[in-house]
Amino acid sequence: MKLKDLESWLQGVQGFEEPKVLLEQYQTPPHIAARILHTAQASFGDLEGKIVADLGCGCGMLSLGASLLGAALTVGIDTDSDALEVCKENLVEAEVENVELLEADVTTLSDQHPRLKKFFDTVILNPPFGTKRNPGMDVAFVQTALAVSNGVVYSLHKTSTRSHLIKKAGDWGVKADVLARLRFDLPNTYKFHKKTSVDIDVDLIRFSRSKQW
Ligand SMILES: C[S@@+](CC[C@H](N)C(=O)[O-])C[C@H]1O[C@@H](n2cnc3c(N)ncnc32)[C@H](O)[C@@H]1O
Repeated sequence: MKLKDLESWLQGVQGFEEPKVLLEQYQTPPHIAARILHTAQASFGDLEGKIVADLGCGCGMLSLGASLLGAALTVGIDTDSDALEVCKENLVEAEVENVELLEADVTTLSDQHPRLKKFFDTVILNPPFGTKRNPGMDVAFVQTALAVSNGVVYSLHKTSTRSHLIKKAGDWGVKADVLARLRFDLPNTYKFHKKTSVDIDVDLIRFSRSKQW
C-alpha cells in the first residue's frame, strides 16, 4: 500500500473522547503513524505476516495500520478501558478482525503475563513521553517492548531525549537506529495548553539485536 493511501485511511480513526493527562493520551497523527508503519514494512518487512504488539495502543491508530499492512495478528495493550472501548469501535468500523485487545499496565506486563516474554516479532509504540508527571515512563515502555519482543521494536521519542535513549540501548546491549526525525503536531488537548497546537520534534527509533534474544 502506498504511503499516501495509508495516511488517508488512518484519517478515519477516531481519537480519545476525553483524553487523560496523567496517561499522556495524545493520538499519533495519521501522517506520523503512516510513516512509522510504512517504514517498518517497506524498508524492513517487519509487519506483513508478523505477530505484532502495540504498547499503549490508545484508540488503535498503530494497531489498525499494522493490520492494514498485513500483520498476521496485532495485540493492542493499554491500561485505559475508555480508550480500549474507542479502539473496539474503530476496529468494528474498519471491519478489522485480527487485532486483539488487552487491558494491562505496560510497565508490569512481562511480570503479569510471563507467557508474553519474547512472544512478538515486532513491537510498535508511541509511549508516554515521560513528562514531569511520569518521569522515566518512555524508558519503562521500551524496556517492556524489548522484553516481549523476539525481533524488533519501533518507538517514538522526543528528539531531546535521543542521547539518553541511545545510551540506555548501549547499556542493554541493543542497537538503536534513528530512522527519521518527524514533527509531531500536538493539538491543544488539555487545559494547561495555551497555544492552538505545538510542534514537537520526535525520533522514530528502531531497536534491534544482531542475534535473536
Ligand atoms: C501517547 S498515547 C499513544 C496512543 C496510541 N498508541 C496512538 O499512537 O495514538 C500513550 C498511550 O499509552 C497509554 N498508557 C499510559 N500509561 C500506560 C501504562 N502504564 N500501561 C498501559 N498503557 C498506558 C495511554 O492510555 C495512551 O493510550
